[in-house]
Amino acid sequence: MTETNLSQAMRPHGLLGRIFAALMERMNEGSYRWAVDALKDTPPKSLYEIGFGTGRFLELAASKLKVRRLRGVDPAELVVGMAANRLRKFAKTCEIEVRTGDDTAAYWPTETFDAVAAIHSFQFWSDPANTLARLRTQLAPHGKLVLILRNHGRNPPAWLPNPISRSGNEVVGTRAALAAAQFALVIDQPIDTASHGLVARPE
Ligand SMILES: C[S@@+](CC[C@H](N)C(=O)[O-])C[C@H]1O[C@@H](n2cnc3c(N)ncnc32)[C@H](O)[C@@H]1O
Repeated sequence: MTETNLSQAMRPHGLLGRIFAALMERMNEGSYRWAVDALKDTPPKSLYEIGFGTGRFLELAASKLKVRRLRGVDPAELVVGMAANRLRKFAKTCEIEVRTGDDTAAYWPTETFDAVAAIHSFQFWSDPANTLARLRTQLAPHGKLVLILRNHGRNPPAWLPNPISRSGNEVVGTRAALAAAQFALVIDQPIDTASHGLVARPE
């Protein structure tokens, strides 16, 4: 698949990407709030987000959860710049690094995190089993993994890179993948008609 064929959801780019990113942020506000609520009982001091888009959830993590170390990767250069600008205001209270990257590598290999979040980016992971296994090692023993899935119904787009998301039964497949990677589910519930929330801990 060439860059120009990638959907804006998978790789926001250009002027259209800016418009798309703003719409996506408005559409996903309920998911960001759900993720904050899922973490607020034991607020994480460190958090890593995979596929952060405009950085709105990272902003809420810094302001509402008072996270002290934030890391994030996203393959779209457009949104990396947007998120970096947005998060600059927290520079005095939070150590922040956002960079271009994707789910397939550990960009801060010596660091572990109290929380890892992926909000509507799981569908774009090409090898979810390997990524989940690696995230298991990046999470602190008491840490939480927050995965918010986009509901594609029974007929997901055939071009989605993630075989679980393409399967037509993403929630069931993701539960199995989490168990295989030695995660135990602690929250498993619909957020709204478009989203399903999963929170897991290392077993
Ligand atoms: C639908 S947007 C969601 C963005 C943000 N999390 C939100 O909810 O507003 C998906 C994001 O995942 C990013 N993405 C695409 N492929 C990815 C991958 N393999 N690993 C990590 N992020 C990816 C895209 O660049 C995009 O910013």
